[in-house]
Amino acid sequence: MIILDGNKTSSEIKDEIAIDVNKMKEHGEKVPHLAAVLVGDDGASLTYVGSKVRACERVGFKSTLVQMSTTTTEDELLQKINELNENDDIDGFIVQLPLPEQIDEQKVLMAVDPSKDVDGFHPENFGKMALEMESFIPATPFGILQLLERYQVKTKGKHTVVIGRSHIVGRPMSILMSQKGNAGNSTVTLTHSYTKNLSEITKQADIIIVALGIPEFLKADMVKEGVVIIDVGISRVPDETHSRGYIIKGDVDFESVSKKASFITPVPGGVGPMTIAMLLKNTLIARQRKTS
Ligand code: GUN
Repeated sequence: MIILDGNKTSSEIKDEIAIDVNKMKEHGEKVPHLAAVLVGDDGASLTYVGSKVRACERVGFKSTLVQMSTTTTEDELLQKINELNENDDIDGFIVQLPLPEQIDEQKVLMAVDPSKDVDGFHPENFGKMALEMESFIPATPFGILQLLERYQVKTKGKHTVVIGRSHIVGRPMSILMSQKGNAGNSTVTLTHSYTKNLSEITKQADIIIVALGIPEFLKADMVKEGVVIIDVGISRVPDETHSRGYIIKGDVDFESVSKKASFITPVPGGVGPMTIAMLLKNTLIARQRKTS
């Protein structure tokens, strides 16, 4: 069994990005600038956005954190997005999800200039991705593709089962795994809450990508010997023995499933760090597209 090490791989990708940024500096060019908008004070979102900003510093990007209160109105947020769209110094920005309930998420994502949409959530980018045109691939699916590619996991002709149809992970992943090219050419089954006999389907899978948000959902008796497991879950499970009061659990029962797997991502240290590295990669691409 081989661990798909997201800490190591994301570190390599960040080093590669830092080299490109250094070259930009040497040539007297502007370095990439990422902005992150955080509305409200959700603990997990604060942690994620903090990690994104720190990662920018590590690779030499400029970063801006825009923090807005929980009571922000939709109009106020749309106004801020407009400012970021028009600010030439900012190459890419993200609006951290979830948003408070008074704000319509779709309206917000539609307001982001597609050329600065480094999360790849705008319908223009999603559509272009599905049509294999130049776009921004959402960071988590992009990170999963990179892990599969860099560990030379074979996907061609394999049966990939995706569990969960979220717009951020499951749905785009199902499209990307069936595309032509590396980390693609797979036969894909997209499963969700109405899927019948899930275990029968997962037992036929060569590759399983789980993005449900249910801790330790996938058990050893649901998979075949030699399966490749990608665990996208990051749930905070209360744990009194930990100083933080919680531990992070994935969607896979790692202890038992890893014994049958040929490759598996751990949680933490698997897909999570890859998401941040690929957000940086998308921001670098956004900068490069502006100058090419
Ligand atoms: N919330 C959970 N994942 C993500 C992500 O990849 N991007 C943004 N903006 N919000 C998220």
